[in-house]
Amino acid sequence: MALVLKSGFTFDYDNLFGEGKVTQSDLDSYAEDLKAAHAAMKVMRESGFIKAHLSKDGAPEKVYFSKLPYITEENGKLNLNSPASIKRLHDFTERIRNNVDVVISLGIGGSFLGNKVLFDVFCGEFWNTYTPEQRNGLPKVYFSGQNIDPRRTGDIINHVKAMAAGKGGKFKVMLMCMSKSGGTLDTMSNFMVMLDAFQKDANIDVEVVAVTDPNMEKKTLLKQLAVENGWETFAVPDGVGGRFTVFCEVGLSTAAVIGMDIEAFLQGAQDMDKACQNDDIWQNPAMLNAALKFAASEKHGRNIEVMMPYGDYLKSTSEWYIQLLAESLGKQFDRDGKEVCYGRTPLVAVGTTDMHSQTQQHQEGALDKVVQFIKVAEWDNDLVIPNVFPNAKRLADISGVTMSEALEVARQSNADALKSNNRYNACFTLPKLNEYHLGELLYLLAMSVAYEGELSNVDAFNQPGVEAYKRIMGPKLQELKASK
Ligand code: PA5
Repeated sequence: MALVLKSGFTFDYDNLFGEGKVTQSDLDSYAEDLKAAHAAMKVMRESGFIKAHLSKDGAPEKVYFSKLPYITEENGKLNLNSPASIKRLHDFTERIRNNVDVVISLGIGGSFLGNKVLFDVFCGEFWNTYTPEQRNGLPKVYFSGQNIDPRRTGDIINHVKAMAAGKGGKFKVMLMCMSKSGGTLDTMSNFMVMLDAFQKDANIDVEVVAVTDPNMEKKTLLKQLAVENGWETFAVPDGVGGRFTVFCEVGLSTAAVIGMDIEAFLQGAQDMDKACQNDDIWQNPAMLNAALKFAASEKHGRNIEVMMPYGDYLKSTSEWYIQLLAESLGKQFDRDGKEVCYGRTPLVAVGTTDMHSQTQQHQEGALDKVVQFIKVAEWDNDLVIPNVFPNAKRLADISGVTMSEALEVARQSNADALKSNNRYNACFTLPKLNEYHLGELLYLLAMSVAYEGELSNVDAFNQPGVEAYKRIMGPKLQELKASK
């Protein structure tokens, strides 16, 4: 059983729905809730309204992530994607091409995870070892700010300084400091350490780009610094929470740095959004995905979701999803103030790697998981396994098979084994690993948590639990400074 979109994107739920799994009568028991959730999504698309959603300051806040796939003048007025903002991103690509040696993207949570997905999928592990020609004149890219780790930050600084010393002539470093709130200490501490180190290096010419809330009346700290120092800025618009920012200028400015096809990425998201407007649950990937996972959790105790893409460069997609699911649905109180302590727990896994570690637990451990596979149907640059040792039958038997075929046999075998032991699993298939299909996948997951927020009656768009530690950490650091 599968939902197949015109693009070829497929949601195979055969091992999640049916006898002994989530049943039709489970879904029937949610019929009214699903109708209400679908209606709420319609209202959100039209007006941004989500019942009881408040910003972290406690004021009613609109939710605009579903507008991001659409490039319109009207959206431009809300600092969402418009023809002018997309053109500016293309101009940014051309400005840095052959001009900037290194970009360091600084951010954490939503200001990091989506960017890492785009980089990993489209640049891979060895981008920074390529020649400028192989990178089409685009810069090397490093990520920082996603931890306060002196060793790694120091390593990046030393590595960049060594490259600068070896260049002969000015070495251009661009620090892209990304923070919606504009003051997150993890990001800002790394930013200050790096800015200071690079400004003091005679070989380095350092430029800063700030990606933050564009509000000029109530400026974030980062916005204030950008205005004072004349830094170029990109926007994290009002109404777009951190975990949805891959479709706004947080993700898209990274896309511009690596020369990704921005329009194709947004088109994939847009086409998925249109599919998710279908009133028929069996034709609506987000409603179906949310309903099946919600029922698996509520009625069958499968309240852990293992996101398991097959392919190394998709691991960060799983990490991005962890934030999306954890922050959106892990809530102590529902929207009526009742204590519910809701939220399925997400886990990162990668095939085939984790079949040699986690799969033991998935196959025989507690019956509390849904394993969600992601598979790529057609790989670029596939490799055929050659017949190197014809006398070794076990190895000769797999020769002539492509690596992607072997990868899929491994995934299918894992799915079959899980199924044979009453372990729920499902699979998203991307026809190819390109901008369009990645846009479809990420948007489907974002829209699914919005549906599940409605089904579970929790606010999927706030993150009071993340704010809690931030309120404690700031004063603690001040105390530490005062004690020195
Ligand atoms: O989803 C969220 O809001 C958080 O996880 C943020 O993305 C994270 O805390 C980083 O915040 P900011 O972009 O304000 O620095």
